[in-house]
Amino acid sequence: DDTKLGVKGLIDSGILKVPKIFVRPSSADDQKSDSNLTADFKIPVIDLQGDHEEVVNGIKHASEKYGFFQVLNHGVPLSVFDEMTQGVIRFFEQDDEVKKLYFSRDRSKSVWYNSNFDLYESQTAYWRDSLVVFTLRSTQLNPQELPAACRDITVEYEKHVTTLGDTLFELLSEALGMKPDRLKQMNPGEACSIAFNYYPACPEPELALGFPGHTDASFLTLLLQDDIGGLQVLHQDHWVDVHPIPGAFVVNIGDLLQITSNDKLKSVEHRVVAKHVGPRVSVACFLTPRFDVDTEPYGPIKELISVDSAPVYREFSNKEYIDHFFTHGVDGKQRGLESF
Ligand code: SIN
Ligand code: FE2
Repeated sequence: DDTKLGVKGLIDSGILKVPKIFVRPSSADDQKSDSNLTADFKIPVIDLQGDHEEVVNGIKHASEKYGFFQVLNHGVPLSVFDEMTQGVIRFFEQDDEVKKLYFSRDRSKSVWYNSNFDLYESQTAYWRDSLVVFTLRSTQLNPQELPAACRDITVEYEKHVTTLGDTLFELLSEALGMKPDRLKQMNPGEACSIAFNYYPACPEPELALGFPGHTDASFLTLLLQDDIGGLQVLHQDHWVDVHPIPGAFVVNIGDLLQITSNDKLKSVEHRVVAKHVGPRVSVACFLTPRFDVDTEPYGPIKELISVDSAPVYREFSNKEYIDHFFTHGVDGKQRGLESF
């Protein structure tokens, strides 16, 4: 049979129009991007080799104000970025026969590939395909489970990105005025889900979205993006571009860090626009606690509660948290922080 897989399959079969299922409803959100008054606005860029106090203050300011920053001199070699990007392209551009082996809509698997993981829950489909790899810090990733196209580099990448995560959690603890190991006590990066995203060129980019507006359900997300661009962050009611910087990680605060920091740090809405050019490749690493076993309940950190800073959120179990996220979809409107 000649059924082709994913959004990439649509492009390969030669479509010139975006199928109806991808056409996004026009909403107030779209208007925000039309009035792009903030063209010269830039997400802060932080040099991790800089003066320690400046680094901590820079991260504090960015995380309170924008929920996003980019980091340079983070210790991950540029060659790892390049090889990871190539590995993602190798995976998505290989034979459908091989990709089919990984195709699944079962999110409890440790490796799955599909298009629109929430197809049955979301209003419209979006213009991207993804491969997702779930790893736990406490157990070694079994390389044999990974697709050969990106096996070795994924093992290497996972080590780099979790190590950088540890560093960032220390800096964020300090940014919150706490001891460097305070956030780590909550095992914020015990699990690491890595999403390898492939956004094919789109014939009518204004009609579709690469990925709709949402906040991340993680503690922290570390993103590698190639040089095409398309990621936008909501700032003061405007969608602003996160300009690609070669070799930089884009870091953003997730919902769990907004909650545990009692709203001091912000989990900010972001999206990916579709483009005429492509494919665009990104690799998003979501650092989260384990959700597959019971852990201590999560809620605002006690030290951050005071007379001037009453708890904004109640405590909740990790199961309650993940059930909420996965039943509300990622359109940024139904899900979110309001139920905690
Ligand atoms: C995401 O937010 O899930 C994707 C970000 C990106 O691909 O740039
Ligand atoms: Fe995201």
